[in-house]
Amino acid sequence: MPAQVISGKEVAADIRAALKEDVTQLKQQGVTPGLAVILIGEDPASQSYVRGKAKACEETGIYSRVIRRDESLTQDELLSEIERLNADSSIHGILVQLPLPKHINEKAVIDAIRPDKDVDGFHPINVGNMIIGDECYLPCTPHGIIELIKRSGQNIAGKHAVVIGRSNIVGKPVSMLLLQENATVSIAHSRTADLGSLTRQADILVAAVGRPHMIGAEHVKPGAIVIDVGVNRIASGKLVGDVDFEAVKEVASYITPVPGGVGPMTITMLLKNTVEAAKRLTAVQ
Ligand code: GUN
Repeated sequence: MPAQVISGKEVAADIRAALKEDVTQLKQQGVTPGLAVILIGEDPASQSYVRGKAKACEETGIYSRVIRRDESLTQDELLSEIERLNADSSIHGILVQLPLPKHINEKAVIDAIRPDKDVDGFHPINVGNMIIGDECYLPCTPHGIIELIKRSGQNIAGKHAVVIGRSNIVGKPVSMLLLQENATVSIAHSRTADLGSLTRQADILVAAVGRPHMIGAEHVKPGAIVIDVGVNRIASGKLVGDVDFEAVKEVASYITPVPGGVGPMTITMLLKNTVEAAKRLTAVQ
């Protein structure tokens, strides 16, 4: 039997509807959640992500301010911009779209964002709290992945989860969140020997590599839950994941599509963190 498709679009729509009600209530108490997004340069993928974030804010009733700067922006100018937003009481969440131009140090920028406005969950204080299991803003894509697995109705506890990819944005944090959900977690990466023998042991397989269709049916244990984080544009212009969806859906029990899987969840978790930030920073619930 082919796998059931976990629709990120549908799960995201449910969560966004609840957030919209939250925002309405906050507004009645005089608080409009506000998100600032800084976009530097002309990278088409980043521009498209930022447009998506602004649109989602608008639909949810969240105030969004997109600050666009060209590639010539200096690191000091960017840090000053962040300082202004740190001090701006109408802004509860700050996100600097990555990747940054080469002359800007990513770590210096992330460190400059107030941890209580870091709705990306990238600041070392939030990363540390996440690992300990303390209150923090969870990074959006990993949090969205956990929600999607939970919505499949399957337990995470006791399962062997294999995460392919060790980025700070997805691979490492999703591994930590799966561990917190009591999965047994393996992290595979570009130096992993015999990837297939590891992935075939996975009850939950998370692919976050950025290589179109690198995971085929031969990599997947029958009945596995397969989460595809890849967003790759191939020569034809089509967006495809890291997983060969058509082949793997014949083997897996649950699978996320691309597009319409993890992607809509990432933005939704950003909205959730922004609403949470507005509550924490204003003490209005
Ligand atoms: N670039 C790709 N994904 C992300 C993300 O989740 N947050 C930020 N700030 N930049 C990104």
